[in-house]
Amino acid sequence: MEKLISRGAEADIYLGKWGPLDAVYKVRIRKPYMNEVLDSFLRRTRTLREAKMLRTARAYIPTPHVLYVGPKSYVLVLEYISGRVMKDELNSNPSLAFYMGVYLARLHSNGIAHGDPNTSNMILGASGKYYMIDFGLSYFTERIEDYAVDVHLFREILNVQHTEVYDEALRSFYEGYFSESKIEKNRMLDKLDEIEKRGRYSRRRSFQF
Ligand SMILES: Nc1ncnc2c1ncn2[C@@H]1O[C@H](COP(=O)(O)OP(=O)(O)OP(=O)(O)O)[C@@H](O)[C@H]1O
Ligand SMILES: [Mg+2]
Repeated sequence: MEKLISRGAEADIYLGKWGPLDAVYKVRIRKPYMNEVLDSFLRRTRTLREAKMLRTARAYIPTPHVLYVGPKSYVLVLEYISGRVMKDELNSNPSLAFYMGVYLARLHSNGIAHGDPNTSNMILGASGKYYMIDFGLSYFTERIEDYAVDVHLFREILNVQHTEVYDEALRSFYEGYFSESKIEKNRMLDKLDEIEKRGRYSRRRSFQF
């Protein structure tokens, strides 16, 4: 391992080599405040889950190749994708959200929820290809509710991190999403309303206590 390129809530990402290939090493780190047994269980299962879901999703959207899985050392070695994350590009080019819409719809149409669809989890590859990453929280599901949670999370990210381009980015996102989604538009929008109302209600409740 050579250079630390990202330090996230869960993992450190190093740039290194895998044989002749450029590779990233994603190392899930210990959370000192968490029970040691639980912490180790979560790091191991998320490492395995991420490898499995990256490989499964690859049939539907571009994801980096998984080069090595080390559940005991909580390490994943992935193909390095050279490029920039959507987070750094979206404010100057909000129509890029279209691709997040297309990719989420393709995952959902094949029974997968991403679980953490934020704008740092899409890499705009130097080759012109877009890659989705960070599948540690993703899972198989057939429930529209779970797909709507992904869409809701993405909207929240736009609201908080891309406020000045929110309207345009959301329009592009929906355009992409509904061009590929098997779910009827009104059904999804109703589910989203439901989730939003529930969120507002529980926020209000917790505020009173
Ligand atoms: N295969 C890759 N190629 C190039 N850069 C990558 C790759 N994987 C991750 N990165 C970079 O590292 C950052 C963090 O990676 P990732 O999203 O997988 O981890 P994380 O967000 O810290 O983990 P988690 O959300 O699971 O706790 C990405 O936003 C991206 O900038
Ligand atoms: Mg991430």
